[in-house]
Amino acid sequence: QGDSDEGIDYMFKVVMVGDSGVGKSQLLNRFVRNEFQMKSKATIGVEFLTKTVVMDHKVVKAQIWDTAGQERYQAITTAYYRGATGALLAYDITNRQSFDHVEKWLDELRVHADNIIVMLVGNKSDLSSGRAVPMEEAKDFAKQKGLFFVETSALDSNNVESAFLGLLSQIY
Ligand code: GTP
Ligand code: MG
Repeated sequence: QGDSDEGIDYMFKVVMVGDSGVGKSQLLNRFVRNEFQMKSKATIGVEFLTKTVVMDHKVVKAQIWDTAGQERYQAITTAYYRGATGALLAYDITNRQSFDHVEKWLDELRVHADNIIVMLVGNKSDLSSGRAVPMEEAKDFAKQKGLFFVETSALDSNNVESAFLGLLSQIY
């Protein structure tokens, strides 16, 4: 996978959103590089990584944008969302507040990227003993809002591919 876009059938822009610390950057790190950092630093500014996958005999290149969940860095918005057709909206299953803020992130998506396809991701499923958000509640919420939903762990890789590939296949 070089820098050339030769042989690429589709290019999709996906944005990562959700509160600071829920694991957006590590989900991306796991998906793109199969790596994980326990001491991940809070993201400042905007970064993107690309990953090319084959779906249905088509070569799909995903450009996945990641930014800070921290409120004080949120001045980026318009350019960040421009052209995005999918969003991975993450919360932390051990952090109730991060789930309560999902509605706020959905409003943000609606304003900047209407009609975007959203995969709601309950991350840190490896920490189930500290669970603060029941899976059924999140599932029902997603259904009611028309979102796709999966619980993941960037640490042990659980469902990380399913989350990204599921989102890409819905876009495609
Ligand atoms: P901002 O960049 O500030 O918006 O945060 P973020 O959402 O990118 O969070 P990040 O990926 O930096 O992860 C925050 C912390 O959670 C780090 O210490 C990660 O190692 C940890 N973390 C991320 N994903 C998981 C996971 O699936 N399980 C566990 N146990 N820890 C995780
Ligand atoms: Mg980050």
